[in-house]
Amino acid sequence: MLNITIINGPNLNLLGKREPGMYGNESFDDCLLQLKQAFPQVNFTYFQSNVEGEIVNAIQQYGFNQDGMILNPAAYTHTSIAIGDAVAAIKTPVIEVHISNVHAREDFRKISHVSAKSVGSIVGLGLKGYALATEWFIAKAGAIQ
Ligand code: DQA
Repeated sequence: MLNITIINGPNLNLLGKREPGMYGNESFDDCLLQLKQAFPQVNFTYFQSNVEGEIVNAIQQYGFNQDGMILNPAAYTHTSIAIGDAVAAIKTPVIEVHISNVHAREDFRKISHVSAKSVGSIVGLGLKGYALATEWFIAKAGAIQ
């Protein structure tokens, strides 16, 4: 089994209800269920918080014992040096995911404190970004069945 942790930041608990034109109609619970069905060889851990320090704690907690981390720090992407530092501090490789195309939105969303410390970033591909990141970790582990 491959161990992958998904960490979502503030307001992503409202996916499906929140600005559906921007973020779609699907809740993250549904997305997680689909991920579990699509990737039975992966043991997913999921953490979401609206609180910056709790996200730092989760990055530290899962940052040394997982095969991969999929991180969407939401608005904290653009502001949080602490989350950027936490990504730099851990051993688990991180893929940054954004549902919307942050580069096509306001200028303040073009700054990310985690991109440079991540293996790579997937932006603008909707919730499919989480599945694509998972596929990359599976391919990296040579675990495609
Ligand atoms: C987001 C993009 C951020 O700019 C925004 O603050 C979010 C969601 C995304 O997944 O598209 O909350 O991270």
